Amino acid sequence: MSAKPFYVTTPIYYPSGNPHIGHCYSTVLCDYLARYNRFKGRPVIFATGTDEHGAKLAAAAEKAGVDTLEYIDGFVGNFKKLWTYMNISYDRFVRTTDDYHIKTVQYIFTVLHDKGYIYKGEYQGKYCVPCESFWTDAQLTKKDDKYYCPDCGREVTENRSEEAYFLKMSPFAADIEKMLLESGYLRPENRAKELVNNFIKTGLDDLCVSRTSVKWGIPVPKFEDTSAEHTVYVWLDALTNYISLLGYGNDTFGDFDTFWNNAEVLHVTGKEIMRFHTIIWYAILKGAGVRFPDKLYSHGWIISSDGDKMSKSKGNVLDPFILGGRYGVDAVRYQMLRDMPYASDMPYSNENMLNRINADLANSYGNLVSRTASMIEKYFGGVIPNYIASAETEYGRDLRAKAVALKATVDGLLDYPKVGDALSAVFDVISRANKYIDETAPWVLAKDETKLPELGNVLRNLAEAIRIATLFLAPAIPDTAPKVYDIFGLTGNALSYEYADVFDTIPGNTKVKTTAPLFPRLDVAKEIAYLQET
Ligand code: MSP
Repeated sequence: MSAKPFYVTTPIYYPSGNPHIGHCYSTVLCDYLARYNRFKGRPVIFATGTDEHGAKLAAAAEKAGVDTLEYIDGFVGNFKKLWTYMNISYDRFVRTTDDYHIKTVQYIFTVLHDKGYIYKGEYQGKYCVPCESFWTDAQLTKKDDKYYCPDCGREVTENRSEEAYFLKMSPFAADIEKMLLESGYLRPENRAKELVNNFIKTGLDDLCVSRTSVKWGIPVPKFEDTSAEHTVYVWLDALTNYISLLGYGNDTFGDFDTFWNNAEVLHVTGKEIMRFHTIIWYAILKGAGVRFPDKLYSHGWIISSDGDKMSKSKGNVLDPFILGGRYGVDAVRYQMLRDMPYASDMPYSNENMLNRINADLANSYGNLVSRTASMIEKYFGGVIPNYIASAETEYGRDLRAKAVALKATVDGLLDYPKVGDALSAVFDVISRANKYIDETAPWVLAKDETKLPELGNVLRNLAEAIRIATLFLAPAIPDTAPKVYDIFGLTGNALSYEYADVFDTIPGNTKVKTTAPLFPRLDVAKEIAYLQET
């Protein structure tokens, strides 16, 4: 049986400013998962893109005194540059101003209208412009007679009243509650109760899905009852990207059946937009008769150490180009993947970041690689010794058992997906290997001729443990992993998923190379000072 296709998506980003480290997390996480699943031999589509419509973007362009698309183009280019810089292996990049996407949005709007789920009415209510979100009074946070958006916390002052189309939500309410509480779609699952209590139990209002006052958007197709120019509500427009770039409702792509209907579909987003990716997305898809996807991983934020979300408007953003330029893109990718907890936020500080890079990449992993390669060089002329079963020790058996169990552990954790925990499991094996060096003291064995078979086993076991650990680290550090493969002469089966839980895969007579340290040790105090200055 061939492997089930895997489709993974990032949120599509607002190109209203330059990307920052907060935008990187979803994208790097998806990149890890896309690379890992390709390694497993699954057909993969990894999609990202930009969300280009809505009043906010048009207003920003106007303020800058430039044409809207021209304004957006510059930032879209910067997102693409960052993804190339961060080694993001995306397969498709959707812009919601692309023709095929516009075609799909108009198509799905028509399907929902023709099935009776979209009807014409009058919209009156409050609207949070930065979030492009409608809210009922009950949903807004009220303080001192003022209303605040529950998503972004800003004051909501706009009242809107206009002819509008609505998407019926009540036919889906019971199924949405069931989906949230029982299907395992929303991860972490403890976020589901909150949604049910805040949005379903309070009554699910029909959703306003068109605007006449917003001009920068996809035109709503003309129906018999249309009497004004409408544009499609940005969230209906934006969510639809996930199927437009597979070819649903357009002829540009032909992957909808393979990568939606018959695939494992995983959306990854930050936690503040899970409402759209659960409740609203469900009504759109089910109303149109489209299968609902398998999983949404709604992760926490990278926050500053004082608990604030890092964002452009708060002026506390980190520039990924500066961090990558100084410490290497792999180190930056690894640190964020490792330190973001599965179900909460990641407080960021330069000190923690630098300590993580030093502890894991420089000391634990980098050191293991260079010590092992140089001992093979020194004691065996650079050739990885063959394994001799009769000379195996209790320590060697323990290391082997831990290393071969890693594949199942990582697979289990990535199913959630708990990437940070998976990387932590990889480092358990790396630590075990470092401890093995202390336990076996190869420099002592080397002094005794009769201990040569034992010494050979130690070094082969270390090379095998490094091979296995690196296979699971590779999707996080895609630039460094091939260097390690090169150091240990690894090719073919040794790099396959199939042999990632099989010891003694490295062929006899394999030669190693010694090289400069993979991750130089950082002087934390000096680097903190440097980062404060930049
Ligand atoms: N355009 C919408 C998404 C539409 S998806 C159909 C949007 N765009 S955004 O540019 O504002 O944010 C995109 C993503 O970046 C969100 O998932 C958000 O959670 C994430 N992040 C922005 N800052 C972040 C951090 N500081 N930390 C982690 N992720 C955060 O919302």
